[in-house]
Amino acid sequence: MCGIVGAVAERPITEILIEGLKRLEYRGYDSAGLAVLNREGKTTCIKRQGKVDLLAQAVDKHAPNGTTGIAHTRWATHGAPSERNAHPHQSGSRFSVVHNGIIENHQGLRESLIAEGYTFNSDTDTEVIVHLIHKLSTDYKDLRSTVFAATKQLVGAYGMVVSDSQSPNELVVARSGSPLVIGYGLGEHFVASDQLALLPVTRRFAVLEEGDVAQITRDAVSIIDALGEPVRRAIEESDITAEASGKAGYKHYMLKEIFEQPEAIRRTLQDRIIDGNVADDAFGNGSLELFKDIKHVQIVACGTSYNAGMVARYWIEQTVGISCSVEIASEFRYRESFVHKDSLLVTLSQSGETADTLAALRLAKSLGYSTSLTICNVETSSLVRESDLVYLMKAGPEIGVASTKAFTVQLAAMLLLSKALCEAKNINQEFCEEAGQALNALPAQMERAFSLEQPIKALAEQFADKQHALFLGRGDQYPVAMEGALKLKEISYIHAEAYAAGELKHGPLALIDADMPVVVVAPDNVLLDKLKSNIEEVRARGSVMYVFADSDDHFESAPGLDVVNMAHANHLIAPILFIIPLQFLSYYVALVKGTDVDQPRNLAKSVTVE
Ligand code: F6R
Repeated sequence: MCGIVGAVAERPITEILIEGLKRLEYRGYDSAGLAVLNREGKTTCIKRQGKVDLLAQAVDKHAPNGTTGIAHTRWATHGAPSERNAHPHQSGSRFSVVHNGIIENHQGLRESLIAEGYTFNSDTDTEVIVHLIHKLSTDYKDLRSTVFAATKQLVGAYGMVVSDSQSPNELVVARSGSPLVIGYGLGEHFVASDQLALLPVTRRFAVLEEGDVAQITRDAVSIIDALGEPVRRAIEESDITAEASGKAGYKHYMLKEIFEQPEAIRRTLQDRIIDGNVADDAFGNGSLELFKDIKHVQIVACGTSYNAGMVARYWIEQTVGISCSVEIASEFRYRESFVHKDSLLVTLSQSGETADTLAALRLAKSLGYSTSLTICNVETSSLVRESDLVYLMKAGPEIGVASTKAFTVQLAAMLLLSKALCEAKNINQEFCEEAGQALNALPAQMERAFSLEQPIKALAEQFADKQHALFLGRGDQYPVAMEGALKLKEISYIHAEAYAAGELKHGPLALIDADMPVVVVAPDNVLLDKLKSNIEEVRARGSVMYVFADSDDHFESAPGLDVVNMAHANHLIAPILFIIPLQFLSYYVALVKGTDVDQPRNLAKSVTVE
């Protein structure tokens, strides 16, 4: 949450900052700002409430010219979205700071800084950082030592970049809890929350570690760790192309990402199944040996990733025959949970920076889990760096705030994990073969499911004036219904709930009337007859139903019942296929409603604060 960009160069950097912010806008988009320093240290600070485009227009007018600068796109935590609360925050027109994270002890610091004569101009927690740096600057010889000293007084999470008008050819950056990467150019250096921001100017990056503080000048980057010792962080070449983060002609990132799913799954499975078996190193070196003794799996995740974990529970218990629990990370981290003997902790995350999931992993490490595995889409992320085992998803950058391809790739990875556990334990050969074949067939079947786009587009019109919707499923399709409901609510703002269909008559049936559309995920599986009875109960109460099925034999469209059929698929991969029509449904409903599909209100991607 919140996107940060900084640059120190020979050339003017304003455009680089603005382009970087546009590329980071998925992290927050309620206000944006920048501070640009010229060689003499004159600082121009411009902020706007709203999206980066508004800032870009203001910048065009003022044309600040400078070679050092910092910029920020905000997702509000403390203080309403407004120009006054937008970053950078400044102290005495000398120091400027942009920050991602939350300073938990801001109240106490604020009071003591006010007592010392500092004036606060915003309601943010961030502003304490810049005044604190100002206050400490008289005690330390340079900006890096000052920022290092300031970080020792901060409790909470931060990725921050600081500029000082008295030293206009440097920036100082500090990281604890919120990601930052340094970008290496020729005679110029950059910093950002995510490499994506800097791909137009460099492909060489170093990831800062927790507690690092770095000075960046045109010619050098010098880093100290949390103890103040000089350190080097490996510089690596990014393999993400600048195009991979574009829209490739699609109207929205979300639509592009829906259509990227087959290819993302192909890439993610490539070289991970060899001669029908899971590759030895697919889940990290030595993973199969470790999996032999696993007797319980604990999955921890948030949001869409949690929904993927819920599907995986069905697979793991049914096929591996061991227990599997799934918990929302923000709950897991704050309760005393029971740790089963020989447990594998699995974190699922697109970004690898979700604060609650990361905290859950850190907690689990102290609780006696046998080993931790992360299934994650970002190689440089904290979850990847801190987990014992890693399965890197190769979904490519996911920029639409509503997660789509990360969900299906996570599911493919979790089905592969079930297979890996069975193979390691030398059990359930039949499932292992079936899963291998089903996963091979999956990308092509997803492509076939895309033919549903047009019929669903037509259905979407009927949803646009609705206030509420129910999503029903049974078994491993219940979490698919949960994910469908989450997609609809987050981008179209229609209140949507998912229920296990058998649970309806225990309460929610009272909600059913003609204004409550009911979406049912109904593949032809062992639970279909039960589900059909549930559907009849709903129909009898006058609801309008939309049934997504994969067999012509079971449902026929009739007044009040729209049936959308897709090709029948192996039951193991059916949850991965059935989310596709629900993704289309939410996308096209949002389009009819005219909401901001890629950047829905109040949300942001990569939730780095708890
Ligand atoms: C919903 C969505 C969120 C994320 C959640 C976890 O469409 O994107 O619910 O799934 O914030 O994020 P990651 O997977 O990055 O840990």
